[in-house]
Amino acid sequence: MNVKETLLDTLAEADGKYISGAMLAEKIGVSRNAVWKAVKSLETEGYSIDAVTSKGYRISAENNRLSEKLIKVSLKTKSFGNNIIIFDEIDSTNNYAKEIASSGACNGTVVIADTQISGKGRLGRNFVSPLGKGLYMTVIVRPDFDIQTASMITTATACAVANAIEKLCNYDVNIKWVNDLYMNGKKICGILTEASLGMEMKAIDYAVIGIGINVYSSEGSFSRELRASATSIEKETGFKVNRNKLCAEILNTLEEYLSEIETRNFINEYRNREILTGNTITANINGNTVIAFAEGIDDNTNLVVKLPDGTIRHLSSGEANLCRVVK
Ligand code: BTN
Repeated sequence: MNVKETLLDTLAEADGKYISGAMLAEKIGVSRNAVWKAVKSLETEGYSIDAVTSKGYRISAENNRLSEKLIKVSLKTKSFGNNIIIFDEIDSTNNYAKEIASSGACNGTVVIADTQISGKGRLGRNFVSPLGKGLYMTVIVRPDFDIQTASMITTATACAVANAIEKLCNYDVNIKWVNDLYMNGKKICGILTEASLGMEMKAIDYAVIGIGINVYSSEGSFSRELRASATSIEKETGFKVNRNKLCAEILNTLEEYLSEIETRNFINEYRNREILTGNTITANINGNTVIAFAEGIDDNTNLVVKLPDGTIRHLSSGEANLCRVVK
């Protein structure tokens, strides 16, 4: 490792505490001037570093540069995040993850980008991914459970991500079935899971779980239509959550939730967070939009709806929205 990398490692491990220039110089085995030069070089790469004469250096709390090292210092996982690949720009982290998963990338590999040119949303939509404003990440998983259980990966992920955001921001996060995360009635995060079946078609070879979070405000990047329904964590909470810490917390929580998925431990949490339940909704059933009443979430995280003729249906996928009262 060169001076710059060792410095970044040391500052990352200090996790926001100052370390004096003299101590850094001694630890790295270079002069204080070389430390200062390496600090400047990290700043040119986009890292924010606080330098205070009597205290030394630390990674600034506002640092918005995504970094493998800064994510790894907050990881408590066994395998999630052991392998992290970060791009400044990419077409879609899901596409890249599928590419490397099909050539053997291991369980828990994470692909992150600062911006996506063609971020993908559900149902063929695109996912607007403005530079530096969101957390756009994909986790590769190689589940050893059956297909029925695997179909709950997305809903378990929605719970895990909601939990992680809530922990760091101290603010309520809701879920709109299937997998949209909401704050104050507006969307802050979407999840797109894509799976590849094994040869026997009985189990999943791998799945890529794409998570897109609007972290910071970026009014100009969204269309007027999107602005009415989408928001960011910063806009709702006033809090600029650190993307490296958020990514690590998501990986910590996601690994835990997926490891227990067969016990369906997360279902009550999912039910408590879900916002369609108990409301009149519009749902897409076999290509038709129908009005229905959302009765709740069943044990396989299907949405249970009652149609106007009294028929009960368990929806496993698709789109459903709260019916808006037109005044
Ligand atoms: C949705 O809201 O419809 C799902 C959005 C999923 C977006 C994420 S961002 C990271 C990953 N890469 C993609 O291209 N899409 C997912």
